Amino acid sequence: MKFAPISDRLAGLGAAKWAVHAEGLRRANAGEPIIMLSIGEPDLPPPASVLDAAAAAMRSGRTRYAHGQGEPQTLAAIAKHLTQRSGLPVAPEQVLYTAGTQNGLCTALLTLVQTGDEVLVPDPYYATYEGLVAASGATFVPVATRPEDNFHVTAQAIERAITKRSKVLLLNTPSNPTGAVLTKKEIDEIGSVCERHDLWIICDEVYADMTFDVPFCSPFDRPHLRHRTLAVSSISKSHALPGFRAGWVASHPDVTPRLVLVAEAMLFGSQPFIEDALTVALTENTQKLNNFDLPFANAPKL
Ligand SMILES: Cc1ncc(COP(=O)(O)O)c(C=O)c1O
Repeated sequence: MKFAPISDRLAGLGAAKWAVHAEGLRRANAGEPIIMLSIGEPDLPPPASVLDAAAAAMRSGRTRYAHGQGEPQTLAAIAKHLTQRSGLPVAPEQVLYTAGTQNGLCTALLTLVQTGDEVLVPDPYYATYEGLVAASGATFVPVATRPEDNFHVTAQAIERAITKRSKVLLLNTPSNPTGAVLTKKEIDEIGSVCERHDLWIICDEVYADMTFDVPFCSPFDRPHLRHRTLAVSSISKSHALPGFRAGWVASHPDVTPRLVLVAEAMLFGSQPFIEDALTVALTENTQKLNNFDLPFANAPKL
């Protein structure tokens, strides 16, 4: 049998991780005192209004094909959410709806890099990143962070790792696993390096709403860095809905149509009723996990 090299590149980077998770679950179910650190699943229930929106939309016939880029009202809701966050206008045309952050990151990497390119990734990094970069064919270049810097990647460390082949910096703020939340100053310093070396920044912001006592800053929210940034996120963590697989990539208006081409090759549109639920989730900002005083009043018991 002959295969394309992609599955060779991905060998060892996927299923083994689920084995650890499955073993943890097995032991927890058997009554052992297990603390699950394998998967970032919020332990609060999702907002009832978002579940209701999905159910109502499904019942009302929102079960057909969705638009490949995303349903217009969903793109508008994501654009409004990002506009409010950054204070800079984001148009719906700059948004691609994705089946979660992982799907968004994969779409972004496949759109930007190929074999021969290098992707810089602050280390330690989220479990799927090696596989994502390997899938694209590009080379994974870890950039060490240090405990004495609270695991905040520095602009200097990034610059030292750059070669002629470097094309993308894959940032993750807040970081899984370290929890490091990059400051505006750090983002600007890192951004200057990316400008000097003409690097794209893919920013995984899936924990953006869970910074607790420090402000969140994305390179997408910095006017001088927005054109080179692809901001990727979802409602998996913010609304405790990882199983909905509902997220987005926001980017420059010239980038988005290219992302759409790649996304359509993989999925050709998501589930309209889930998009409707995401629209409600982002519109009802009070229900984010950040706001522990308000949310989940009507949430079902799990
Ligand atoms: C850093 C990071 N990125 C992406 C994901 C995946 O997010 P999604 O459920 O939106 O695909 C996770 C999930 O744990 C994560 O921790």
